[in-house]
Amino acid sequence: MADKRILLIIGGGIAAYKSLELIRELGRRGIASRCIVTRAGQEFVTPLSVSALSCEKVFTDLFDLDDEAEMGHIQLSRSADLIVVCPATADLMAKATAGLANDLASTTLLATDTPVLMVPAMNVRMWEHAATQRNIAQLREDGVTVMDPDEGAMACGEFGPGRLPEVPNIVAEIEAQLAAAASVQANPSRLRGRHALVTAGPTREPLDPVRFLSNHSSGRQGYEIAKALADAGAKVTLVSGPVELAPPTNVDFVPIEPARDMLAACEAALPADIFVSVAAVADWRPAQAANKKLKVKDGDADAAGTLKLVENPDILATLSRKKKHRPDLVIGFAAETHDVEAYARKKLKRKRCDWIIANDVSGDIMGGRENEVTLVTPDRSEAWSRMSKDRVAEKLADRIAEHFRGQGPAVLAAE
Ligand code: C5P
Repeated sequence: MADKRILLIIGGGIAAYKSLELIRELGRRGIASRCIVTRAGQEFVTPLSVSALSCEKVFTDLFDLDDEAEMGHIQLSRSADLIVVCPATADLMAKATAGLANDLASTTLLATDTPVLMVPAMNVRMWEHAATQRNIAQLREDGVTVMDPDEGAMACGEFGPGRLPEVPNIVAEIEAQLAAAASVQANPSRLRGRHALVTAGPTREPLDPVRFLSNHSSGRQGYEIAKALADAGAKVTLVSGPVELAPPTNVDFVPIEPARDMLAACEAALPADIFVSVAAVADWRPAQAANKKLKVKDGDADAAGTLKLVENPDILATLSRKKKHRPDLVIGFAAETHDVEAYARKKLKRKRCDWIIANDVSGDIMGGRENEVTLVTPDRSEAWSRMSKDRVAEKLADRIAEHFRGQGPAVLAAE
C-alpha cells in the first residue's frame, strides 16, 4: 500500500484525538495523510500535533490566502486517492448531504471527485435521530461509504451505537477502499465488450390480486454487483424483484415480480457472457392465483387453509444447463446457516454453475451492509474476510475480469 495518500478531514468531536493514532498507523503502512482540521476539530486536537504526526502542513481555513496560493481548495480536494472524514460528526454529514460549502471541509467535500469514506462518531441520540439517519442514507445513495459506528459506553456517559470504530478497523477499511480504487484506476474498462446478466431481490408469487408470497431479500448485494460490473465496463442487465433501492444508473433495468417472469426476462436478455444469480427466488408459488380477492366469509379460508403450492423454475439451473447461449461464466449464491461450504459445493454440482458465492446468514448479514463470503469454485475455495457489500461486489468483478484474462479460478468442465 506504499505511495498512497489520503486527505483526512478531522471533525469536531471527542473522538478527534483518535485521528492522531489513525495518522500514525497509516504512516506505518506507507499511507501518507494530508489533513484538514475543522474549526470545531481544533477544540479537540491542535493543528500542530496533527502536523507533527503527519509531517505535512495542516489546512484549516477556506479563506487563507497563503494556503490558497500554495494549494487551492479545489486542488486540495483532488490531491489524494481517498478522502477520509474521521470523526464524521452529525454536522459535517448534514452539510455534505445538503451540499453546503461554507468552510474548508464542506467545500472540499463538494468540490471533489475522489472517493469519500466517512467514519461517524457522535452521541447515541444524535446517531439515532431521524435527521442523521436520513442524511446517512442519502450520503450512501450518493456513493459515499459510511462506516457503521461501534456500540458501547460513550464519553458522555450514555450507552449505544455512536462510538468511533476501533482504529485497526478504520485502517482496514481505508486499505480496502484504496485497493478498490487502485484496481479500477489500473483498468477501468476491464470488462468492456462483455454482457453481464444479474438477478437480484425477492420474487413475489401472487395468491390473489392483492396478496403474494415473498421473502426479506433487500437486493443490496445484487445491486452492488450489477454496479461493480457496469463500473468495470460491462453492459449489465439487472433483472430485479421489488426492493427499496434505486437501480444503478448505468445498467439496463428489468423489474419483474413472479419467478416465471424473472426466468422469461433472463432468457430474453441472452446471450450473456456472465450470469450472476443473486436473487432470492421463491422456491414455491401458489398453484393457482385467484383472480378475485379471497374472502373469509365466502368460505375461501378453507381453500387458503389447504393452499396448494407448486415448484417454481430454478433460474440458475435452467441457464447453466442451456445447450445454446449458456453464459460463459455462471455464478450462483448459496445462503446457508451451517455447513456453508459443504452445501455450496453440492449446489455447485447440482446447478452446474461455475462458481458459488457462499454466505453464512446465521448472523446479521441479511439486509445488512456487510457480507462475509466464501468463493467456492470446482477446485478450491477462498474465504474472504467480512467486508462491505460494495467491496464484495468489486472483488467479485476483479475475479470475473481475471477469468476473462484466463487467470481466474477454474470453472466447471464441459459435461
Ligand atoms: O437452492 P437455493 O435456493 O439455495 O440456491 C440459491 C441459488 O439459486 C441462488 O443463486 C439463486 O439466485 C438461485 N435460484 C434460482 N431459482 C430458484 C431458486 C434459486 O435461480 N428457483
